Amino acid sequence: MSDRDGIFAGDDPFAIARAWLAEAEKSEPNDPNAIALSTVDADGMPNARMVLLKEIEEAAFVFYTNYESAKGRELADTGKAAFVMHWKSLRRQIRVRGTVTREEGPQADAYFSSRSLKSRLGAWASRQSQPLSSRGALLAEVARVTARHGTAPHRPPYWGGFRIVPVEVEFWADGAYRLHDRFQWRRASPSDAWEITRLSP
Ligand SMILES: Cc1cc2nc3c(=O)[nH]c(=O)nc-3n(C[C@H](O)[C@H](O)[C@H](O)COP(=O)(O)O)c2cc1C
Repeated sequence: MSDRDGIFAGDDPFAIARAWLAEAEKSEPNDPNAIALSTVDADGMPNARMVLLKEIEEAAFVFYTNYESAKGRELADTGKAAFVMHWKSLRRQIRVRGTVTREEGPQADAYFSSRSLKSRLGAWASRQSQPLSSRGALLAEVARVTARHGTAPHRPPYWGGFRIVPVEVEFWADGAYRLHDRFQWRRASPSDAWEITRLSP
């Protein structure tokens, strides 16, 4: 017997995540799909930054970035990531931990082409996370890549998606007097079945 119902109902954590995000889209002032993505560097030092979650697939979470950025290198080195998404308007969070692989095929091409022209040119102009001498230097680079790529820039080879396949997903909802509800989906590997556990707040 489980006392899991309401916003926690159902056994598919991806379906619950999609439902919560759809609710947050109605109540958040902006970027309801923002996630704090954590990685670990070669010295074991944790790192975190916001990125936008672009797809909740049947069995994975996808975001896009520059593969040569700090996060891109850390993800390539460890093959692992964690993220949390938090909605103040709903007083809820979702936590995810898992392994990552690149999405650099037609799906990444399609997402890149859906971005505005300025964003696509920006991806060509910015060596994300590298030192930059001035804003002027960046704007000069934007002008240079605009002259080179025109109005139809293709996806840069160093830019694309990461797909996070979770081994842990936790749904957290605020409760009165800090008696929050927490349910954790956990599996030893992506080919194992989920074990679902209520956790103490
Ligand atoms: C709300 C928000 C959304 C962001 N979305 C992205 C994103 O989807 N992809 C990305 O590469 N950077 C995004 N950024 C910028 C990152 O937080 C970060 O500055 C950049 O990716 C460099 O991180 P790194 O040096 O750790 O690689 C976003 C920042 C904010 C505040």
